[in-house]
Amino acid sequence: MEKLSQITTGKAKSLFATSNPEHLIMEFRDDTSAFDGKKMEALDNKGKVNNQFNAFVMEFLASKGIETHFIELVSGNESLVRKLEMFPIECVVRNRATGSLCKRLGIEDGLILDPPLFEFFLKDDALGDPLINDHHIESFGWASQEQADSMRELSLKANNILVDFFKEANLILVDYKLEFGIFNGKMLLADEFTPDGCRLWDKDTLTKMDKDRFRQDLGNVIETYGEVAERLGMQIKLD
Ligand code: ADP
Ligand code: CDP
Repeated sequence: MEKLSQITTGKAKSLFATSNPEHLIMEFRDDTSAFDGKKMEALDNKGKVNNQFNAFVMEFLASKGIETHFIELVSGNESLVRKLEMFPIECVVRNRATGSLCKRLGIEDGLILDPPLFEFFLKDDALGDPLINDHHIESFGWASQEQADSMRELSLKANNILVDFFKEANLILVDYKLEFGIFNGKMLLADEFTPDGCRLWDKDTLTKMDKDRFRQDLGNVIETYGEVAERLGMQIKLD
C-alpha cells in the first residue's frame, strides 16, 4: 500500500489517498485545537499517542461488535482506514453534565446523567457546531431518519462498552463525540476516539485527564494522555 497525495487536512489530522481507492491513510498530527480552532498549539508526541490510543479503542469496539473504519496501524502516527462518505454530524453522549451542556441549560457541573444523554451537533466550525435534532437532519438531508437512528443506537451501544472499559482503569467516561460515515452502504464508526474527543475524570480525585487540560491550561496534556493509555494497558511507542 502506497501513500499518495493528501486529500484533506483538518485541525488535527490529515488524510491521504493510497493505491487502494477504498482506503486512506489517516495521519494524526501534533496540532491541537480548541474552541472551534481559536486556540491552537502543537504538542510533542500527541500524534503518536492519539494514533495508537485510537487504534486500541477502535479494535476494542470492533471486538464488541461495533464496526469501524480502522484497518491497521501504518506507523507511529498513521493508520490505514476505510474511505467513508462522512455525515456532517457529531454525535455526543454524556454520562455527566459538563462543558457546553452546563452553559446552555444552566446545569450543575458534574451532575450524573442517568440515562445517558445523547445529542446531535452539526459539524460546522463557522457556525460553532450548533445543536440540532432529527428533524433538522432529515429536513436538510444531512442523513435519513434511519441513519440518524443508527448513529444514536451505535453511540449508546458504544457507551455501554466504553463506560466499563474506562471504569477498569479507575476513570469516569464523562462525555465524548463520535462521527460516522457510510462504506459500501454500511454505517461505520469513523474519525477517532482519543482523549482529544472525550472527557475522562479520575474516579477518586475527579482530576481531568483529557483535552480539558489543554482547553483550561492545566499543563501536562500529553503526559496525562500517556497515563490514561498506561492504565488501560496500552503500550504506546514514541520512537
Ligand atoms: P476537523 O475536521 O474537525 O478539523 P480533523 O483534523 O480530525 O478534524 O480531520 C479529520 C477529518 O477526516 C474530519 O473532517 C473527519 O470527518 C474526516 N474523516 C474521519 N474519518 C474518515 C474516513 N474514514 N473517511 C473519510 N473522512 C474521514
Ligand atoms: O467541549 P465543549 O464544552 O465545547 O463541548 P461539549 O459539547 O461539552 O463536548 C462534549 C464532548 O464532545 C467533549 O468530550 C468534547 O471533547 C467532545 N467534542 C469534540 O470532540 N469535538 C467537538 N467539535 C465538540 C465536542
